[in-house]
Amino acid sequence: MKILVTGGAGFIGSHTTDALIQAGHQVRILDILQPTVHPKGKPAYLHPQAEFIRGDVCDKATLQAALADVEAVYHFAAYQDYLPDFSTYFQVNAVSTALLYELIVARGWTNRIRKIIVAASQAVMGEGRYYCPACSPQKERCLYPSIRLEAQLSKGIWEHACEACGRNLQWLPSDESVATPCNQYAISKFTQEQIALHLGRRYGIPSVAMRYSIVQGPRQSFYNAYSGAMRIFALSLYFDHPPTIFEDGRQVRDFVNISDVVAANLLVLDHPAADYNVFNVGGGKAWTVLDFYNRMQGLTGKAVPPVISGYYRYGDTRHIVSDTGRLQALGWQATRGIEDSIRSYWAYLAEQEEIDDILEYAKTHMKNLHVIRQAGKPE
Ligand SMILES: NC(=O)c1ccc[n+]([C@@H]2O[C@H](COP(=O)([O-])OP(=O)(O)OC[C@H]3O[C@@H](n4cnc5c(N)ncnc54)[C@H](O)[C@@H]3O)[C@@H](O)[C@H]2O)c1
Repeated sequence: MKILVTGGAGFIGSHTTDALIQAGHQVRILDILQPTVHPKGKPAYLHPQAEFIRGDVCDKATLQAALADVEAVYHFAAYQDYLPDFSTYFQVNAVSTALLYELIVARGWTNRIRKIIVAASQAVMGEGRYYCPACSPQKERCLYPSIRLEAQLSKGIWEHACEACGRNLQWLPSDESVATPCNQYAISKFTQEQIALHLGRRYGIPSVAMRYSIVQGPRQSFYNAYSGAMRIFALSLYFDHPPTIFEDGRQVRDFVNISDVVAANLLVLDHPAADYNVFNVGGGKAWTVLDFYNRMQGLTGKAVPPVISGYYRYGDTRHIVSDTGRLQALGWQATRGIEDSIRSYWAYLAEQEEIDDILEYAKTHMKNLHVIRQAGKPE
């Protein structure tokens, strides 16, 4: 099959491209080489057999040309940052998705396109699902708390509390029915999901949305502020520089290895039962951020005590873990733990030649955005 991969120069897109070519497909990449992700230009890891178009998914003529003769599309190109330029999230993540369907319908290509797979996000589930152990001990009533506001976080109160009894809530894994997006990125990704599923069904274009948890592995950009704990922790350990662990380090996440994500991406391409569905793609195991960092120290042979002093990122979720039962029912299983991800990312970091400035770049970037704040110290 000839397949268009938007954002194919990025982390998930490039690994998916490699696997598609390996499986005998032809791949065309459409990627703008966004400077915050690729400050050094076109990455050397791009597969030599992939056709590469440098261009913007929001540009109608460019997207139309890229779509001209393909039978499937992976739409990974996205705007992911902490910046408050709200409209850009919707322009890149949602409007480009609408444009994709608009072009396919307007040009009469619906019969040719066999699948569209869009990259949604665990972020769509916002703060996720909880219950109150005091008011609802049998978990008979689920709760979906809203974001934690500055008034709470600045006092160093991290947990969600029950509105009825005031006790701390207990998190539960979130399945695909949970959709409580809380920030501009998450809302744009939820919108993207809705566009794909509903326009897809309406026009008979088989479409699938993949809600990835935190994806880990080599090629995660060192510069992308959104690329998470692995990058910051690895760089900190590499330079023996204590990382700041936000809140109390007990917030829970799930991490999924890039190989498992690629396997999921390829599975839904060929599986008719996947059509018009949303799938969580997660690691299946809950980790506290502190345990994750400790595991990293152990595996890298480094011992650098972290700083845990009440710093927090305004807008972070407290706990979020994906329930991947729906994808497992299609025959998928997470096969790699965080150990694999840590080892491969550490090896990837060691291969880099110009990394001295990266950690400082990342920290300055976040500080400038005023996303990082400290409890007891109002902004
Ligand atoms: N990595 C994760 O943990 C994760 C988690 C949940 C969802 N996702 C989603 O998966 C997708 C891929 O993420 P990633 O980690 O590979 O990100 P990435 O930043 O490594 O790759 C994104 C690619 O898209 C390109 N791009 C950005 N804007 C573009 C535009 N307007 N036109 C064309 N190309 C553009 C960038 O240059 C980059 O190469 C994104 O949609 C992201 O929101 C990722």
